Amino acid sequence: MASEPSTSPDSAPSSDRWWEDAVFYQIYPRSFADASGNGVGDLAGIESQLPYLQWLGVDSLWLSPIFRSPMADFGYDVSDYCDIDPIFGTIDDYDRLLRSAHSRDIRLTIDWVPNHTSDQHPWFLDARSSPDSAKRDWYVWRDPAPGGGEPNNWEACWEIGPAWTFDEASGQYYLHLFLPEQPDLNWSNPEVEAAMLDTLRFWLDRGTDGFRADVINLIGKDDELADLDRYRSPLRDIDGPRVHQHLRAIRQVLDGYPQHPMMVGEITLHRPGQVRSYYGDDDELQLGFNFRPIYTRWDAAEFRTRIEEVHDEFGDDHWPVWVLGNHDQPRQRTRYGSDARARAAAVMLLTLRGTPYLYAGEELGLPDAHIPEDRIVDPGGRDGCRAPIPWTRADGHGWGPDAWLPFVDDAADRSVEAQRDDPDSTLSLYRSLLALRRSSPTLRRGRERLLDTPEGVVAWRRSGHGDDLVVLVNFTDEAVTLGNVGDRLISSIPGTDRRFDGTLLPDEAVVVRDKT
Ligand code: NOJ
Repeated sequence: MASEPSTSPDSAPSSDRWWEDAVFYQIYPRSFADASGNGVGDLAGIESQLPYLQWLGVDSLWLSPIFRSPMADFGYDVSDYCDIDPIFGTIDDYDRLLRSAHSRDIRLTIDWVPNHTSDQHPWFLDARSSPDSAKRDWYVWRDPAPGGGEPNNWEACWEIGPAWTFDEASGQYYLHLFLPEQPDLNWSNPEVEAAMLDTLRFWLDRGTDGFRADVINLIGKDDELADLDRYRSPLRDIDGPRVHQHLRAIRQVLDGYPQHPMMVGEITLHRPGQVRSYYGDDDELQLGFNFRPIYTRWDAAEFRTRIEEVHDEFGDDHWPVWVLGNHDQPRQRTRYGSDARARAAAVMLLTLRGTPYLYAGEELGLPDAHIPEDRIVDPGGRDGCRAPIPWTRADGHGWGPDAWLPFVDDAADRSVEAQRDDPDSTLSLYRSLLALRRSSPTLRRGRERLLDTPEGVVAWRRSGHGDDLVVLVNFTDEAVTLGNVGDRLISSIPGTDRRFDGTLLPDEAVVVRDKT
């Protein structure tokens, strides 16, 4: 097979940059495990499942928000950044979870929501109380447009309407790029930056290993807030001007801690090159989510382009993130349309060069749950991918009688209990992939280059660090024969022979120790 030029150096792992060797596992705390039995997951539930996570083989956790919140956006509306919401437990529960995770060599990172607070946060209550409030300027207030109405044409996310809510008392509007209950902070006020950096210190002082920063590009809004050409949400447009200065201030805080904390940014911009620019000169974010793959349908040419653009934009010197699922998107099984494809996607996620983020429940191959109209709770239509994790076969699946969302249809068969000892299960596939990645410096750190392949197949070679591996993914529903032969270290399809004779089965993904 002909190959393209290599894209990455044969770099050595460094424990200071532990996030480059890690596989992150995203936990949506409400839906993971419920120790209290009230139908909503909690910190003690997460702690009780640390043995499972260690058995599975993930290195680091990211918890979606656990802070005090009125839960208008299930935690992404924070009313106290320095306390745990009682539904999840207490600060003591957090400290215990952190200690237990560390005792199992698992790192703990948490969400940080810098762009907006809850409208019940004391800062906003104060700001709203009077135009003369000392906190007024901590949020984004504007007079009505000259002829009346909203100050600009921005829409809030999820098409809920204008990004502005009128405050009768003061006759001004406040900005919210999400729900009206999530007013945007004004990061051009230095007091806001200082207060938010303190919230980072609060968790870092406890030993927290890092953060996932929610919609981080949005903190860089300019003061002009100009109309957009089209009437829509500005999430893909806000890219500066002050964001890099804020990120450098954040990085300085992180770099002052001995645990080498990291921050991964949720960046709502579209181009991988824009994502890369948020790494700065290794003085801003350590990682940033590139979301284009998550929006890509099951198509070889499109996925090949996704890989090429990461090679082009990240080059040798920057370390990308791979993410195919999270709490905002339909699950892989639902998006790609079959178990076979969801399993092949697992092989991709865990063998590409970069740090993988794996969303809890993907390792069970969960589809989205069907949510009857009277059980819908999320204004953004994302309940299906947030169904509770089914731990056991029996009704209730390890939860109390009233789990906050319905389970997926085939929860018993997809449960951890049903899959754990089945060598052919999706759970076993993920576990094998994680073990292979852990044992293979080549998969974690090796060079990567795309290979020329027939239509419908994407393949890449990982080399260096003493090994030479080829990953081949068949995106078609027909068998395809290629030139490669070798030892099949892993196949997404159960029961295939160890020897790979060059024929990929329909929807098969393999990791092969190349003998060509
Ligand atoms: C992105 C988060 O992933 C999403 O769940 C949330 O609703 C918005 N940011 C607003 O915080």
